[in-house]
Amino acid sequence: MENLKFTIEDREIAELLGRQNFSTKESAVFELIKNSYDAGSETCNIYIDDHYIKIIDAGKGMNHEDFKTNWMHVGKSNKGYKDEINNRIFTGSKGVGRFALARLGNQVKVLSKKNTENAIIWKTDWITSGFEETNVDFDQGTYIEILDLRDKWRSKDINELIEFLNRAYKSKEMEVFVHFKDNEPHSIQSKFQNLKIGVNYV
Ligand SMILES: Nc1ncnc2c1ncn2[C@@H]1O[C@H](COP(=O)(O)OP(=O)(O)OP(=O)(O)O)[C@@H](O)[C@H]1O
Ligand SMILES: [Mg+2]
Repeated sequence: MENLKFTIEDREIAELLGRQNFSTKESAVFELIKNSYDAGSETCNIYIDDHYIKIIDAGKGMNHEDFKTNWMHVGKSNKGYKDEINNRIFTGSKGVGRFALARLGNQVKVLSKKNTENAIIWKTDWITSGFEETNVDFDQGTYIEILDLRDKWRSKDINELIEFLNRAYKSKEMEVFVHFKDNEPHSIQSKFQNLKIGVNYV
């Protein structure tokens, strides 16, 4: 039998797996936080302003090959069950979570660096995507910049995001901070820490 592979338009994937798959902008941000967690990062900083969202981690990063084989491969996760180095159970398994980016904005730039290798930039407008060379130097990790945002983020929305993350994010192994404009950063604190039956848990 002749073997055939589906070819899908970038804009259709972004629409189906991004805009339609994530009903709320909060859940889309959370999906990207999970990727930072899976990358073994100890911190994930989210910066939100009128015109951008940035998500920055200090995880293992991606090189050119990782982008080509993992990032550009839709519907297959390279993650196993457990990250033995960082002793974390991976949260990702489906290989579609990064399309949360399409829920949040129409222009995306991902700058990533894996240990001592050169950093690389991947860019998309959800019609075409590709690599850009960079000589930016930083320690390993991933820096995501989302522009041409699909939502307005006001103080009220930031409070809703923080509420959502306080409920959804449970780990103490990676610190998550939400920075909104020039305000003090807000640290995400799980509401469900120190569960005590009958006291704060039924
Ligand atoms: N912040 C990051 N740091 C390093 N690698 C990343 C990061 N975000 C994504 N990746 C890489 O890109 C791949 C695709 O991410 P994506 O979230 O779409 O899928 P997944 O996490 O494997 O599964 P799921 O769809 O369940 O989240 C990941 O498997 C990982 O290899
Ligand atoms: Mg994921």
